[in-house]
Amino acid sequence: MLYKIFKLYLNKLDPELAHSLAIKSIKSSFLFPAFFLKKKNKNLQHRVFGINFENPVGLAAGFDKNAEIYNHIQKLGFGFSEVGTITPQAQLGNIKPRLFRLEEDEGIINRLGFPNDGMKVIKKRIQEDMPKGILGINIGPNKENAMLVDDFLLCFDNFFNIASYFAINISSPNTPNLRLQHEEKKILKLIEFIQIRREEKKSNVPILFKISPDINDFEIKKLSYIFLKKKIDGLILTNTTIENKKNLLSEHKSEEGGLSGAPLYDISNKIIQKFYIHLKNTVPIIGVGGVCDGKTAFEKIKSGAALLQIYTSLIYKGPYIANKINSELSYLIKKNGYKNISEIIGINCKL
Ligand code: FNR
Repeated sequence: MLYKIFKLYLNKLDPELAHSLAIKSIKSSFLFPAFFLKKKNKNLQHRVFGINFENPVGLAAGFDKNAEIYNHIQKLGFGFSEVGTITPQAQLGNIKPRLFRLEEDEGIINRLGFPNDGMKVIKKRIQEDMPKGILGINIGPNKENAMLVDDFLLCFDNFFNIASYFAINISSPNTPNLRLQHEEKKILKLIEFIQIRREEKKSNVPILFKISPDINDFEIKKLSYIFLKKKIDGLILTNTTIENKKNLLSEHKSEEGGLSGAPLYDISNKIIQKFYIHLKNTVPIIGVGGVCDGKTAFEKIKSGAALLQIYTSLIYKGPYIANKINSELSYLIKKNGYKNISEIIGINCKL
């Protein structure tokens, strides 16, 4: 109820201003005291890429870009949090307006372009408030370096001793040329360089790759072959899409940028299923795109996701959403005769 009133007010504001107010209120723990209870559901606990997760619902990258609320967000029932995308140098991102709510479609279009405080400032911030839970660090290149591997390595060096896992973001549509990193030769080089760097640092931090939904079956097959050969630790599927806007209802549907939320749900599920089948269930997948309740979470896990992330449904449904998804998911697992979340991963896919 409190959030419904707060949302009416937020909806009237510019979306970026509303976002920074939401960050401030989560940080102050003032507006949502009643929600600060983390429920435990035993059947949601499982181990993925060597880490024990209390529950599968994580905060997707882009919400806590500058690592300000990762400890607070976990008190709201999230099982893990991913900060970023963080680049080596601070940057302002694209010119405003660059964030659009598509209320009627339960979607968002953004073309933010990685505005962030830069890796040094953010590292200091994290060191002053060490993570109490699982913290993924999502890294990317500065705008002018999108086709190089150097910026990923700089960020890796900066964060390798505080990250629970890395998300290598090659899939934002808002940094020109970044998606070219999906090309066979480029991604091979990126994987090799970053794995070598990890060896040099004597680290075993998991390195996950975040992939675009706007790729075809041939590309999925080729990428899967590379991922298997290089034994990557995991995938995040998917980032926002630049497609599927034609049939939307909202006035902002033609804005340039990446589309998230409900209109991405089926698209990302299909990509997850295809990778799951090609990878023969050997590479864990974090499924992201349009998860908004227990049912959509259940279906995404059945499509092959071991873990989930949400962003857009947090905007539309409020800070209690992770707890709600977890309760509903836990109930659905039990109701369908399973003991643990790990038993339903990929059951919709024929291997
Ligand atoms: C994002 N997303 C994103 N992803 C990423 O890897 N780095 C980023 O900086 C951002 N920034 C960002 C900003 C905004 C405003 C949105 C809505 C999204 C993508 C996000 O992590 C996720 O992949 C998609 O939003 C799909 O999930 P939902 O929103 O449908 O739950």
